[in-house]
Amino acid sequence: MGSSETSVFHDLAIAPLDAIFALQRNFLEDSNPKKANLGIGVYRDENGKPYLLPVVTSVEKAMAEDKTLTHDYLPITGLKDACDAATRLALGNESTAITQNRVSAVQSLSGTGAISLAAMFLKKFYPSKTAYVSSPTWGNHNKIFAQVGYEDIRSYRYFNPKNNGLDIEGMIEDLRNAPNGSVIVLHACAHNPTGVDPSKDEWQQIANVIQEKNHFTIFDMAYQGFATGDPDTDARAVRYFAERGLEFLCGQSFAKIFGLYNERIGNLFLVCKESSVAAAFQSQMAAIIRPMYSNPPNHGARIVATILNNPALTAEWRDQLKGMSDRIQRSRKLLYEKLKALGTPGDWQHIITQNGMFTFTGLNPKQVDHLIRKFHIYLLKNGRINMCGINPANCDYIVEAIHDAVTCCDASL
Ligand SMILES: Cc1ncc(COP(=O)(O)O)c(C=O)c1O
Repeated sequence: MGSSETSVFHDLAIAPLDAIFALQRNFLEDSNPKKANLGIGVYRDENGKPYLLPVVTSVEKAMAEDKTLTHDYLPITGLKDACDAATRLALGNESTAITQNRVSAVQSLSGTGAISLAAMFLKKFYPSKTAYVSSPTWGNHNKIFAQVGYEDIRSYRYFNPKNNGLDIEGMIEDLRNAPNGSVIVLHACAHNPTGVDPSKDEWQQIANVIQEKNHFTIFDMAYQGFATGDPDTDARAVRYFAERGLEFLCGQSFAKIFGLYNERIGNLFLVCKESSVAAAFQSQMAAIIRPMYSNPPNHGARIVATILNNPALTAEWRDQLKGMSDRIQRSRKLLYEKLKALGTPGDWQHIITQNGMFTFTGLNPKQVDHLIRKFHIYLLKNGRINMCGINPANCDYIVEAIHDAVTCCDASL
């Protein structure tokens, strides 16, 4: 207890900064005109500017003029029209899990909220308290499971630095050696941070071992459409698991694919074997959500519901999503070709074979440090770069900087 002059929190330590948001802060504080931000995972257009999807802007305008819309509370589990449409986007219109009422969804606070709710639900109702995430993975996965109270958080092998691709043998071996019934977090597509996704055949092998071992899957789908430009193709793994009759949870984010980062709109759905479970899931999720934040925000949910429930608006959105994905592909090609043209040591093929928003460059921490300090180019310590940070105007500068880092810093690639 503190005395009259000391706080009861006198010994409170400063918590470590989140690496990505700390990098973002340093970037914003840097006054160098040549600075480049390849850190935080946000989409930027060819001029380095945030992209407001025209379809989102037009829906927002119509919403502003619609006098029937109010600021009344949403239900605890969110806007049903948004959840249903989001779930159909993931599972497809032909999904038998949906027609057989074996799916149940709740609105979440974007993708992070969806994974957090999934972890809370499993902690409360699923027997195994062992959770596996990929190595490497999105930095928040470990933190989410730890916060929810999982003490046994492990990783399965995923990335093979030798070929900058998937370590499928290592992954399967680790999933096979995991205790039966473990919780397995899988990135549905556009893996963060590696940009490496399993092939169709590899997804089959992954589903086989998950089924054999009675593991329970959480799909994290934050980038549906960013890998190939087509949200149906990118949902392949999720749909395949559903078709095989596997039970799983899936968290979706509309931050990146609708450009609604700060609206915190996401969806969490359960695919299960019995429709009675789907109904119970809704009520239990409501019981989890109510004491935490009572009910979710409306704005982003209304936008997603309006677009995905209207075929013409959905077509516009798909087109704009494809536009974002194409721009990322052009960035990949540009960076690859310029590094090759400059003769920068290393095999840069993975820049064009990896997909989604990120490239796992293979740059080591020393080289990363060199890029930040000497060139004001901000990227993650593990060498991950956001391809959207590269554009025709800054690409030459970035390539010359990478060349300098690779040739100056002794640790080899
Ligand atoms: C793999 C992965 N999952 C989930 C998220 C969640 O993002 P948000 O909470 O902004 O939707 C991200 C964002 O970076 C991500 O990369």
